[in-house]
Amino acid sequence: MIESKGWNWKIVKEDKECIWKNPSIESYYLLNRWKNQGKKEFLDLGCGLGRHSILFAKNGFNVYCFDISEEAIKRTKAWAEEEKLELNYNVGDMLNLPYKDESIDAILCRNVISHTDTEGMKKVIKEIKRVLKKDGECYLTLGSKSTWGFKETDWPMIDENTKLKMEEGPEYKTPHFYVDYELVKKLFSEFKIELIKHIEEFYENNNKTYSSYHYHVLIKKN
Ligand SMILES: C[S@@+](CC[C@H](N)C(=O)[O-])C[C@H]1O[C@@H](n2cnc3c(N)ncnc32)[C@H](O)[C@@H]1O
Repeated sequence: MIESKGWNWKIVKEDKECIWKNPSIESYYLLNRWKNQGKKEFLDLGCGLGRHSILFAKNGFNVYCFDISEEAIKRTKAWAEEEKLELNYNVGDMLNLPYKDESIDAILCRNVISHTDTEGMKKVIKEIKRVLKKDGECYLTLGSKSTWGFKETDWPMIDENTKLKMEEGPEYKTPHFYVDYELVKKLFSEFKIELIKHIEEFYENNNKTYSSYHYHVLIKKN
């Protein structure tokens, strides 16, 4: 199994417009959904700078912030303190979560669990299943095999689904695991799959248009 490697957040500057400080669109839907379901214990798995931890804490959830990057946890903690919110923090590897069996109601891991290889992915999914309560839910995103990073780069191949990202930036040399629809269904076959979406996102860089594809998946533990 490839060694885990988190983001280098030290090179990411933040301001109020920074995407990592503003909750994702789907997090507002999940907040509403999980509030209505009476969920309370929320795990922000791979919390980054804490944009979802803060959102869920402000809305009454008990929040567990988890990331392999000490810098990520440090910055999430500083933000929570500014907001006078009390959260729980752990630095660690998603391959071994420090939470008890069946202790978590809801997990959000947006662009996180892809940072491993095929063997690691199976381990993370086992960990998610272990810590979720019955009827607990997890929303996650995974890089798609239709995206340029998988199809068009000569980045080193780790296994049939995984490449090592060689683009300069905070993800330099982190593993990226990619899926297609059939693989998503296979990976989460022990869960009830509530939804699978395949989303294309566009962005501009140096007057050129790029796009990337991700699978968004919502699963429930039976
Ligand atoms: C793209 S960022 C997403 C941050 C956050 N989920 C968000 O949406 O703002 C990916 C995060 O996953 C973390 N990460 C990568 N590999 C990890 C691992 N093995 N265990 C825990 N966290 C990991 C990185 O350090 C980084 O903070």
